[in-house]
Amino acid sequence: MSSRCGKSGGGGGGGGGKAVTLQNLNPNIIKLEYAVRGPLVIRAAAIEKELQSGAQKPFKKVIRANIGDAHAMGQEPITFIRQVLACVVLPELISKDLFPEDVQQRACDILSSCGGKSIGSYTVSHGIELIRKHAAEYIERRDGHKANWEDIVLTAGASSAIKYVLQLFCNNIGGKPSGIMIPIPQYPLYSASLAEFGLEPVRYYLDEDKNWALDVKELERSLNEAKSKVNVRALVVINPGNPTGQVLTRENIEELIKFSHTHNLLIFADEVYQDNVYADGSKFFSFKKVMKEMGSPYDKHELASFMSVSKGYMGECGLRGGWMELCNIDPEVQANMYKAISAMLCPTTLGQTAVSCVAKPPKEGDPSYEQWKQEKDAVLGSLNKRAKMIAETFNKMEGFKCNIVQGAMYAFPRFELPPKAVEAAKSDGKPPDTFYAFQLLENTGICVISGSGFGQRPGTYHFRTTILPQPDLLQEMLDSFRKFHSEFTKKYS
Ligand SMILES: Cc1ncc(COP(=O)(O)O)c(C=O)c1O
Repeated sequence: MSSRCGKSGGGGGGGGGKAVTLQNLNPNIIKLEYAVRGPLVIRAAAIEKELQSGAQKPFKKVIRANIGDAHAMGQEPITFIRQVLACVVLPELISKDLFPEDVQQRACDILSSCGGKSIGSYTVSHGIELIRKHAAEYIERRDGHKANWEDIVLTAGASSAIKYVLQLFCNNIGGKPSGIMIPIPQYPLYSASLAEFGLEPVRYYLDEDKNWALDVKELERSLNEAKSKVNVRALVVINPGNPTGQVLTRENIEELIKFSHTHNLLIFADEVYQDNVYADGSKFFSFKKVMKEMGSPYDKHELASFMSVSKGYMGECGLRGGWMELCNIDPEVQANMYKAISAMLCPTTLGQTAVSCVAKPPKEGDPSYEQWKQEKDAVLGSLNKRAKMIAETFNKMEGFKCNIVQGAMYAFPRFELPPKAVEAAKSDGKPPDTFYAFQLLENTGICVISGSGFGQRPGTYHFRTTILPQPDLLQEMLDSFRKFHSEFTKKYS
């Protein structure tokens, strides 16, 4: 093979060329985009380095409002979780009697469920039986309905659980690929994973004017348009919503279950923000609960629901803990899925330990209860205040409209851009809202993700900001945002 051929990488092989090149790389990987860690975030990291090496900028630090990572934004860990983790990692701490009795007991229980009584051993692929039982108890307490621990799979965060279920659909039937219905705007794990697996997104728009509700007519429209090209096989619902922050009403969930039943769609209920509900009158209902209470035939509908230790009041993103509950899946399908999961050996044992602490927290009367409750309430109370503060501030800014943040960890305001800004974005080769987000970053250090990364109705502009900066920093961020917006608008008017 000539060196020229080697460079372009035609078929790889000998001659010193690369075996994998952009030309022969799996095109799905090239197609895959994940905005919450995309170009804006890469630039934010570069700016941080520039600041460290003494570059002069109109701001002193980068404010990372781009990703739902609470600890990265200064949230303190929950003591109970960290004490149990400490004890399972270093069991001699248990005998030193440094921590409350319920902490020691939990650590002992987890360790005795691990092979060789060490957290360093592999576990069963779908997770330690004891902790799957803890998750089942949690679901039963939450819903008032039985949960079968054998239908619960512990995973390395909800992301891997979602991908395990998506993989079930990676086949063409009758010459047509599988289509998965996803909300727009959506959390980009879905668009990225669909691209990676060669699955077709079947997009349905959330109704911004009705606080991002799901309108069944819109779902019907989207499904009907897609039907001739793809086999539509599943519906993804994120509740509470990311990036949109809505909490679905029970009636809305019932409609979605009926819709899925009519069209034979497996439901992906992404419920990782189930503890993050702030608005008066909003309440979280799990799909499982609503389905069970709707009775026949809906209580037999296929559902996969997802939960994570990364969100809620714990925010333990880096531990990679989560679970899914599978309901009414064909047993042979489930067995095959478990087989596929077993090839990944097991989720991290530290993530599983965190799942145990979240699914079975201290109960009233336990030695750790008071502190655990006080810490949990403090985090959720503060998030509640920040959720309100963000929406109120944006709604006071000219050209902005922000739905109230009913839940989750984000606001997704809509804003107008002067025509000159749209032209400037065009000459810069960026979508207008991305241009705006880059200008914001370069001028203030605030890193948000533009609406194009999540999807939005054509001609509208949004961005997603988290509500996670701690109160003082958030105030500083919003003040600086307001100032930037007025200068930007002046410049391009
Ligand atoms: C809606 C939603 N689902 C799933 C995830 C994945 O969470 P993890 O894999 O950290 O559990 C996230 C993370 O931000 C999310 O926002």
